[in-house]
Amino acid sequence: MSYRIRTIEEYHEAYAHSVKEPATFWTAVADAFTWQRRWDEVLQWDFTTPDVKWFVGGSLNITENCLDRHLATHGDKTAIIWEANDADHPSKYISYRELHAQVCRMANVLKKHGVKKGDRICLYMPMVPELAISVLACARIGAIHSVVFGGFSARSLVDRITDAICSVVITSDGIRRGGKNISAKTVVDEALKDCPSVRAVLVAKCTGEEVPMQAGRDHWIEEELKVVVADCPAEPMDSEDPLFILYTSGSTGKPKGVVHTCGGYMVYAGYSFANVFQCDEEDVFWCTADIGWITGHSYIIYGPLLNGATSLMFAGIPTYPDATRFWQVIEKHKVNQFYTAPTAIRSLMAAGHDLPDRFAMPSLKLLGTVGEPINEEAWHWYHEKIGKKRCAIVDTWWQTETGGILLSGLGDMTPMKPAHAGLPLPGVQPILVDQQGNEITGEAEGYLCIKFPWPSIIRTTYGDHERCRINYFAQYPGRYFTGDGARRDKDGFFRIIGRVDDVINVSGHRIGTAEVENAINEDAAVVESAVVGYPHDIKGQGIYAFVICDGEHADENAVRASVTATVERIIGKIARPDKIQIVSGLPKTRSGKIMRRILRKIAEGETGNLGDTSTLLDPGVVEEIKAGAQ
Ligand code: WTA
Repeated sequence: MSYRIRTIEEYHEAYAHSVKEPATFWTAVADAFTWQRRWDEVLQWDFTTPDVKWFVGGSLNITENCLDRHLATHGDKTAIIWEANDADHPSKYISYRELHAQVCRMANVLKKHGVKKGDRICLYMPMVPELAISVLACARIGAIHSVVFGGFSARSLVDRITDAICSVVITSDGIRRGGKNISAKTVVDEALKDCPSVRAVLVAKCTGEEVPMQAGRDHWIEEELKVVVADCPAEPMDSEDPLFILYTSGSTGKPKGVVHTCGGYMVYAGYSFANVFQCDEEDVFWCTADIGWITGHSYIIYGPLLNGATSLMFAGIPTYPDATRFWQVIEKHKVNQFYTAPTAIRSLMAAGHDLPDRFAMPSLKLLGTVGEPINEEAWHWYHEKIGKKRCAIVDTWWQTETGGILLSGLGDMTPMKPAHAGLPLPGVQPILVDQQGNEITGEAEGYLCIKFPWPSIIRTTYGDHERCRINYFAQYPGRYFTGDGARRDKDGFFRIIGRVDDVINVSGHRIGTAEVENAINEDAAVVESAVVGYPHDIKGQGIYAFVICDGEHADENAVRASVTATVERIIGKIARPDKIQIVSGLPKTRSGKIMRRILRKIAEGETGNLGDTSTLLDPGVVEEIKAGAQ
């Protein structure tokens, strides 16, 4: 790719160019893609409304760039390697030509069901090729995909389907993950009792289990594919037409639908993939995320395919059948770039420090991490035991809202500092601000903001633009606020400290404490609750819930079990509290506000100074909570 940077000098040059003349810089990058109509203006922006438009007036289809563009030169190249959950299950190798045909067929199935440009389609599926195909099929005809992670409950699915008013759901019979089968279709059926907007359900056969099919509404994808052709023109999309919605947790209320648009997202997903991971022509790239998260969108599907790379998609988990599965897969498919989350690294480290010694993994060239801060111990283990001290590590910082990686090393050309995300990618202008929003320069710690748009910046939160403004652009006017705290060292390297809002990061998954509290409060035994994060050896952060229950529920263990089940039912297993402490009261100010700072300290194991408690209505409650802390 013409936009690939190959030396650190080139990086510095590109960076300087991108800041001095963003329009000419991004023009050169965007020119490497196929457009149906070239843009009239590179960028229009205003961070107050906010209103950001990239490649204004341009027209394109991202699937032409992911698929059609490669057919002449790379038609037989493997686009996707699929590795099943069960190690003895045969892998699949899907060439660019086959993927193109399958995407076109699936797009025609969607059309057959009346799906049109702009319609919202919900995907709730395991990590099977049909998921990637369905994502691209939506993009092919301009339908907006909203992928929901398969671990979410029926209730979470209802919230997401109704918020986006989806007309079609694509799912599977079951989901096989580790040693378990989860019935995806049953969850969908349950959810659809409350989703009148859905008129069709397309079901992929994955586990082969018996599932009820509702006549007129539910259809087997296998059967549908038989009656359509493998040719489907790519819908012309305006640069600023939405490409997808992806729900993510914030500090308040229900998850919000982050909207990304076609032109800017394409350019940045392609550009960031090429430069961070530095894949060569024959390389196999493996990102272990689930496509239900932004990492899977940008670096399993779009980023690799935009660059004509080979992307490995894995349906299993790191510990099944045992804790060497990742290393087996790396050797089996000769993976060159491996990209995973610190949680996975820590849990595999805990499963056996020396287990990876049995695997030489000579193909590996580069390692990556994403999703949460990596502690130095895990960084060094990853570097020594997996990279065998040969491979560079890129610690990539970004967010659902940023669409692509913003801070990271580039391949092995940037000096590595353990636990530091490093430098901004060209086009990205991060700053640190103090509480008042004043920019602080040099070596400093502060709130991480970005002061200039990059092409894949969030455009809106679906159906509620004001929420987008308040969440990201209001706190520090004129800046995009990330919600993270960070430190910058004398070399300009950033180290992410973590969230500074009421979002916690559990195993690399973003969870809003308010969301968990709302779920817990639905439990019949619960009067009120407060949820905070606390440091957890494997997960990064754990969920600590302080719960007040009513007088009739005296059996604490029963309450704990019930609260856990309620959270699983309402949100899903990923939000299950790690610790539940039953308390008789919560530390509240006279105005009724819960002082989370105090609860956070208690959850962190602080027994001494809890700071000023004089404004509390009942300071005595703090002593009680401290005494009962787990
Ligand atoms: C955190 C995931 C430290 C951060 C791509 C951010 C990180 C949130 C890193 C976004 C990293 C992500 N180092 N922290 N390399 N990458 N984070 O939306 O707190 O699921 O705000 O996107 O994860 O999570 P999200």
